[in-house]
Amino acid sequence: MKLFKAKEKKQEVSEEVLEQAAAEGGVSEQTAAEKAGKEDKAERIRKSLDIFDFSGETAVTIQDVDLYYGDFQALKKINMIVPKHKITAMIGPSGCGKSTLLKTLNRMNDLVEGCRVEGTIEIGGRNIFDKSIDLAALRKNVGMVFQKPNPFPMSVYDNIAYAPRTFGIRKKGALDEIVERSLKQAAMWDELKDRLNKSAMGLSGGQQQRLCIARALSVRPQVLLMDEPTSALDPISTGKIEELCEELKNDVTIIMVTHNMQQAARISDKTGFFLLGELIEFNNTEEIFTTPKHPETERYITGRFG
Ligand SMILES: Nc1ncnc2c1ncn2[C@@H]1O[C@H](COP(=O)(O)OP(=O)(O)OP(=O)(O)O)[C@@H](O)[C@H]1O
Ligand SMILES: [Mg+2]
Repeated sequence: MKLFKAKEKKQEVSEEVLEQAAAEGGVSEQTAAEKAGKEDKAERIRKSLDIFDFSGETAVTIQDVDLYYGDFQALKKINMIVPKHKITAMIGPSGCGKSTLLKTLNRMNDLVEGCRVEGTIEIGGRNIFDKSIDLAALRKNVGMVFQKPNPFPMSVYDNIAYAPRTFGIRKKGALDEIVERSLKQAAMWDELKDRLNKSAMGLSGGQQQRLCIARALSVRPQVLLMDEPTSALDPISTGKIEELCEELKNDVTIIMVTHNMQQAARISDKTGFFLLGELIEFNNTEEIFTTPKHPETERYITGRFG
């Protein structure tokens, strides 16, 4: 799998980095025509983008989704309507299927052997399991930020330019603009504008995570999936990311998994509570935290679970 140029390959590339590169569409399957040099991958992705339509009020519609890892059912009849340009939090005890559902939304589980999904998920008006869906185009629209900051072993600039380059953007001027816009959107431009050519590995954990958000924003996703994005960070970096999310939701729909109840209550508009693969309750955040309808939700949010 050719992900990075030879000189960058010398450094160890972790599982998380490979996963991230895949999430950004960097390793999507080549068609036979592309392999033969008769068709351009970037061109194909650009064409595939036109089929998504995000003009409606709903960003994601999850309908009767069951997911199995082999014989084990990790998600049971999940139904959720995720509103556009809001923050939706997913909470619940460890192992209840939050990451599984998040990864299903940009078909990251396609990489897991023995994983099977039933039901439909519509994003931008298209069923993402449809044969006509191009994975790179889907992932351009649905970005992902993981729990552990996972910058690529390259410069700050190249981290952000990575995905745009896979979409065929080569001109320095255009890439410069994307790097500046993405870092500004992630409130990092002033901090990093003088070290664009330095390795991203030299940044602090909190900076690395915000760089990963900037990197996800480089291709202007419509939906941003965040799996416990602040759990490895100190309170100041956490606060910065929360502020950033509130700013970003003007342009992007955010779906965030968090174990931090205060965080969910502080920043999200909608909250879903999961238990053993089921979505027990999904409602406006205020109602979930003040008047939950299910006793399990109440036990969980008041810390009396288990
Ligand atoms: N690749 C996999 N193969 C088999 N089982 C898996 C795989 N990934 C997750 N599972 C199982 O699916 C269930 C849900 O896991 P998932 O990672 O989605 O939970 P989670 O809610 O994100 O938990 P946490 O809060 O600990 O991150 C767990 O029982 C887990 O062991
Ligand atoms: Mg998880």
